[in-house]
Amino acid sequence: MTPRVLVRRMTLDDIIQVVSIDRESFSTPWSANAYRFEVTNHDTSHLVVLEMGGGANGIGLRQRLWPLAQRPQPGEVVGYGGCWLIAGEAHISTIAVHPDHRGQGLGELLLASMLKLAIRLGGEYSVLEVRESNLTAQALYRKYEYAVIGRRKQYYRDDGEDALLMEARPLDSAYSRRIEERLNALSGRVRFDDRFTR
Ligand SMILES: CC(C)(COP(=O)(O)OP(=O)(O)OC[C@H]1O[C@@H](n2cnc3c(N)ncnc32)[C@H](O)[C@@H]1OP(=O)(O)O)[C@@H](O)C(=O)NCCC(=O)NCCS
Repeated sequence: MTPRVLVRRMTLDDIIQVVSIDRESFSTPWSANAYRFEVTNHDTSHLVVLEMGGGANGIGLRQRLWPLAQRPQPGEVVGYGGCWLIAGEAHISTIAVHPDHRGQGLGELLLASMLKLAIRLGGEYSVLEVRESNLTAQALYRKYEYAVIGRRKQYYRDDGEDALLMEARPLDSAYSRRIEERLNALSGRVRFDDRFTR
């Protein structure tokens, strides 16, 4: 089982760690200033982080066997995501997990948490852009019922790759129940405390 993680809102103090993960995850990362703007723009922007918990039970058996350098440390931010919520549209603006901690359910925890909050705040549908070549992220989005509804030609400025526009709709009470079921299933893999959606 993965270590306990705290799901909470991003603060200004997280930005150094978030920018570091962002640089390892994207070819055109956001600047620290962009994150500062997003964190302080509470009206529409909702940013989440996953922080490693401390305490004796914080590290699971699997992580004890990891090389010391890859072991998550208490207080370490291991992933983050952002959602813009405007007029019923929940736009997933960014999502990333530290490369050392991928494949353990943390990306799913981020996405499910953002969707859960968006629904609570009145989100009716969700959209996002994803690189055509990013099959890993697309698999995560499909798991959360996003479907491709369009293509943005040469959307990415660094290499001119197309973006796929994906949408999950409707974020109704049945969808909300399915999110809860997935979060329940996830809690068997990841021990987490949710202080983001409560
Ligand atoms: C996309 C990303 C956030 C996923 O995070 P993660 O913690 O590795 O993903 P999870 O372990 O939660 O996996 C959730 C689902 O994603 C998909 N997935 C994850 N890793 C995968 C892989 N290597 N191959 C295919 N699908 C994969 C699966 O559908 C998985 O569900 P499953 O566990 O039931 O199979 C992570 O890979 C990342 O940070 N990538 C770099 C940044 C990025 O591309 N962000 C998306 C921008 S649009």
